[in-house]
Amino acid sequence: MAAILKVEGLSKSFGGVEAVKGVSFDVHEGSIKALIGPNGAGKTTLFNLLSGQIRPDSGSILFKGIPVQGLSPHRIASLGMARTFQQINLFHGMTVLENVMVGLHLHTKTGFFSGMLNLPVSRRDDRFAKEEAMRILEDLGISELAYREATSLAYGQQRTVELARALAQKPGLLLLDEPAAGLNIKETAELGSVIKRIRDSGITVFIVEHDMSLVMKISDEIMVLSYGQKIAEGTPLEIQKNEEVVKVYLGE
Ligand SMILES: Nc1ncnc2c1ncn2[C@@H]1O[C@H](COP(=O)(O)OP(=O)(O)OP(=O)(O)O)[C@@H](O)[C@H]1O
Ligand SMILES: [Mg+2]
Repeated sequence: MAAILKVEGLSKSFGGVEAVKGVSFDVHEGSIKALIGPNGAGKTTLFNLLSGQIRPDSGSILFKGIPVQGLSPHRIASLGMARTFQQINLFHGMTVLENVMVGLHLHTKTGFFSGMLNLPVSRRDDRFAKEEAMRILEDLGISELAYREATSLAYGQQRTVELARALAQKPGLLLLDEPAAGLNIKETAELGSVIKRIRDSGITVFIVEHDMSLVMKISDEIMVLSYGQKIAEGTPLEIQKNEEVVKVYLGE
């Protein structure tokens, strides 16, 4: 399997804290890869480096063969990398549909703001964007929420809207930072099948998650961080048997 993402020697410090320390790995195209590790291990920092929210101190990130380290989040998103955030990050005062359309406007000719101005040239794109956003909401089973204000919804529903907005970008690679946090057992199980469907539709998934039963169920490969360093990588079975990983988790 080809690597959609190739990371080499990636490092990032905050003051004295080495949050990510010489980390190298590949994410294979068409797979679900999970990134696990104790609180503060550097998982979110690694995601922020990949998506351009912060710049690495050193190391390289090849996405589809293109060096993306140091590029802006917008530029990286337009190359086909989408993400959701550990803290829900929806736009206030906008409907669910509008939030999802923000993701789509990365792809239509007119930008989001010219779209907001309702210029005649953008009307056709806008109708297309609306249909496309509705289709994504239907796929995720929340089309009945389309005209509700996004930030007024229940927590689990807001997480699904975030996922819809990321999918609207038509990403090649989707980064999910703790998508099951705050979800109940039923919602978590549904999320698991949604993530597998996303993978089966051709989108590569890289997921940070603390829910081990979910991780073990859906992942093709798992990578473990501890104090910013990669301590293990392998199949779910290999990771479950790995002594160092077990030690890190029992010590938590
Ligand atoms: N912007 C920042 N400024 C200073 N320190 C930071 C910053 N972001 C992260 N850190 C530190 O870097 C380390 C890694 O944090 P990070 O959020 O990446 O961990 P994590 O693995 O995502 O943890 P969690 O499971 O709790 O989400 C922590 O010690 C954290 O305090
Ligand atoms: Mg985190």
